[in-house]
Amino acid sequence: MTSAIVSVSKESRLFDPPAEFSVRAKIGSREVYEGMYRRSIEDPDGFWGEVAAELYWFDPPKTVRQWDPPKARWFEGGTTNLAYNCLDRHVTAGAGEKRALVFEGEPGDIRTFTYAELLRETCRTANALRRLGVSAGDRVVIYMGMVPEAAIAMLACARIGAIHSVIFGGFAADAVRDRVNDAGAKLIITQDGAWRRGKVVPLKEQVDRALTSCPSVEHTIVLRRTHNEIVMQPGRDHEWSVVVDRASDQCDAVPVTSEHPLFILYTSGTTGKPKGVLHTTGGYMVGTYVTTKYVFDLRDDDIYWCTADVGWVTGHSYIVYGPLANRATALMYEGAPNYPEPDRFWDVIARHKVTVFYTAPTAIRAFIRWGDAHPRRHDMSSLRLLGSVGEPINPEAWMWYRDVIGGGRCPIVDTWWQTETGAIMMAPLPGAIATKPGSCTLPFFGVVPKIVRHDGSDAEPNEGGYLVIEQPWPSMLRTVWGDDERFRQTYFSRFPGRYFTGDGARRDNDGYFWVMGRVDDVVNVAGHRLGTAEIESVLVAHPNVAEAAVVGRPDELKGQALVAFVTLKADVNATDELREQLADHVAAEIGKFARPDAIRFADALPKTRSGKIMRRLLGELASGQAPKGDTTTLEDISVLAALRDDDE
Ligand code: WTA
Repeated sequence: MTSAIVSVSKESRLFDPPAEFSVRAKIGSREVYEGMYRRSIEDPDGFWGEVAAELYWFDPPKTVRQWDPPKARWFEGGTTNLAYNCLDRHVTAGAGEKRALVFEGEPGDIRTFTYAELLRETCRTANALRRLGVSAGDRVVIYMGMVPEAAIAMLACARIGAIHSVIFGGFAADAVRDRVNDAGAKLIITQDGAWRRGKVVPLKEQVDRALTSCPSVEHTIVLRRTHNEIVMQPGRDHEWSVVVDRASDQCDAVPVTSEHPLFILYTSGTTGKPKGVLHTTGGYMVGTYVTTKYVFDLRDDDIYWCTADVGWVTGHSYIVYGPLANRATALMYEGAPNYPEPDRFWDVIARHKVTVFYTAPTAIRAFIRWGDAHPRRHDMSSLRLLGSVGEPINPEAWMWYRDVIGGGRCPIVDTWWQTETGAIMMAPLPGAIATKPGSCTLPFFGVVPKIVRHDGSDAEPNEGGYLVIEQPWPSMLRTVWGDDERFRQTYFSRFPGRYFTGDGARRDNDGYFWVMGRVDDVVNVAGHRLGTAEIESVLVAHPNVAEAAVVGRPDELKGQALVAFVTLKADVNATDELREQLADHVAAEIGKFARPDAIRFADALPKTRSGKIMRRLLGELASGQAPKGDTTTLEDISVLAALRDDDE
């Protein structure tokens, strides 16, 4: 497996933080960063205790951290409420009239919520949930597009101690059903449809399909957004405009213990079943609050825009909770970046005077392809800071981002983190740390990353290895929902006592980290982390398919593209029509973003003697390379030759 993480990068450009940025920054020099970092490691209780005290607790914590690997507990004895910290705290402090959320719909409609308004809407929604029987600890699925009501629904759950599980609106019925059932959700909040490139994504229809086999769900709340025709089942389905809009706007935040579950977010793992990553209240609150504060260096007058979808962790931590906990003004945009024209993002930045912009490398590569003319047409001089997340950013895309979008003046924060980590783990603090294109630079406070070899020993500088984290941090996942053993197995068994990220990385001579991507059977397609096993199991469920293996191959635009190797049942002919059918089948079952880019039929797949499909070999084949890795465990070498003959 080590061959997967050999580093080929020779990047050596270095950019100091602009002096005028550092002067105004919260952390304005490398020395200050180092002092704070050292304290966070040597005295974690003191450091994190002080950060926690910047937030509101009904009862202050009695202890800071307890670490009994793999179980961490933070801020025990404390009771708090995340919605209270995101809303009431600011309203009470007199900032009720400050804009909390500025929403722009794809059709161009704009809605603004002050902190006081967002609080009232959250209270109404919380009351509606209660009336429909939801109480603390119950699971609520939120399956919506990018509308402010999605954020309001999350905050409403947090307010009453219900556990939300947001399912990305790009998932289709089967993926929704599996997640709803795994969480045992009692209620689903959805909408008639979502706007995407001028078309309606029919969300309610997918919910109806899923609900034919989700026994735990008692009610749904349906927001009208696109006004497409939908079927409402009396007694089960309720209009948002009735149950929410008519509810009282008064609802006290429920004090919950620090370790009270906040949300479940499903993410891909190496087996077919997605993992329900569980985050709890206090630690997640402290982690997202403090990372937003220092990494985005927020100022009171910032207009902060994170382009992620609320269905992914970035939307949770850096559209909703982190910015609101910091009393920021966050922008939320509903639709596609190229609708109606490829300059939509730049138009949004210019019109709303966005100052901090956080997006993904896959988007940046698409922008490059669409051409410089689009950004150049707009005045983006309001921008002062740029961010990147989701996958490694290639140095050329980084340089383009800096020059064309940032006008050469904005620092770039390349933020490495995961659904499991809850908050940013490595990133340059923009006023303090010199950047190198393609490197997420140095760890955030309290984070102890290490690069290790497969036997767990420390790698040398510049030697590629596995990225692990040595100490617990406040916003780390607490378990996999309903499966402690899988939690331990996945994250803490490969290198006992240390958290294994699943990423390959190296650390250079300056101590900078360069993350190279996943080393497991997980692919990162256009910033969507997909477990290949989940796609394989959908393929195998097709009546014509005997066996399937899905791998990633490098793709200029999407980071990775999906290639499916499929063996058919006897008597089934391998036709182009079937190829299309299978790709459509995956799109229909999981979502369009999981549609394989290529399907290759094979008489057999390469396997080890124990019957495990050798995906590494298939990955090499899919990338057009000669299989160079170890083939000695291959059961039948002729299989490989046959596959190579099939090269497109
Ligand atoms: C990858 C998204 C390099 C990495 C927040 C990680 C990155 C996975 C970066 C998590 C980055 C994310 N540089 N790789 N700045 N950010 N990744 O759970 O492989 O959707 O393990 O969380 O994305 O994806 P997830």
